[in-house]
Amino acid sequence: MTEISPIDRIFCAVDTPELDDALMLADLLAGEVGAIKLGKEFFTAHGPDGVKRIADCGNKIFLDLKFHDIPNTVAGSIRAALRLNCAVMTVHASGGPAMLKAACDTAAEAGEKRPKIVAVTVLTSMDESDLAAVGQQGSAAEQVLRLARLTEASGVDGVVCSPHEVASLRRELGDDFALVVPGIRPDWASEDDQKRIMTPAEAAAAGANHLVIGRPITRSDDPVSAARRIADEIAESVL
Ligand code: C5P
Repeated sequence: MTEISPIDRIFCAVDTPELDDALMLADLLAGEVGAIKLGKEFFTAHGPDGVKRIADCGNKIFLDLKFHDIPNTVAGSIRAALRLNCAVMTVHASGGPAMLKAACDTAAEAGEKRPKIVAVTVLTSMDESDLAAVGQQGSAAEQVLRLARLTEASGVDGVVCSPHEVASLRRELGDDFALVVPGIRPDWASEDDQKRIMTPAEAAAAGANHLVIGRPITRSDDPVSAARRIADEIAESVL
């Protein structure tokens, strides 16, 4: 596994439809985190121009739009997003092998600037009765593993997974597969609505490459100190 610096391991989720709030955070956090994660909430309000403004503050961008459509449409969406020079983009693994391959092939068109493609397996909001309701057999854990294997076989760089899936996916999928992990809470931060959390140190030690951390940084009175404290905790755990 290539060495990733503690700062680069932090992907800060900026979940807001307010451009000024996002710009203020992006400005403060430039150089303090590995990327700013922008999702559907921000993108639907401010579009590609909003993303460019966050990048222009000096940040790499994790564009979390979770594409899920027919392969041709996903390829077209990724091709359009390549203009934004994002570092990471997401798709749904349940879009299937052809869609995942189309996503990777399209990302490769950017050559050296190729963004990493990371797939969402099972949304953590879905429990086993939700999975049964959409016709899925077996446990959520089995489905996560099935989709993670499919993701790797399709050439996708990694998956988004819960902290409690990290150790088993790392064992099953080897060291070169990226595990991007939300549900992270330092022991000094509020849990908010997150359940089954891990601290940054625990998740990094279990084998997470990148930690998606939002409110412990963005809602802190001092986002820069919060990000630095998290980077220090990661550094200690992966020594
Ligand atoms: O503020 P917080 O640290 O809880 O933010 C976590 C981020 O990770 C949010 O953008 C959330 O949507 C995302 N996420 C998550 N759990 C998942 C997948 C994504 O919390 N299973």
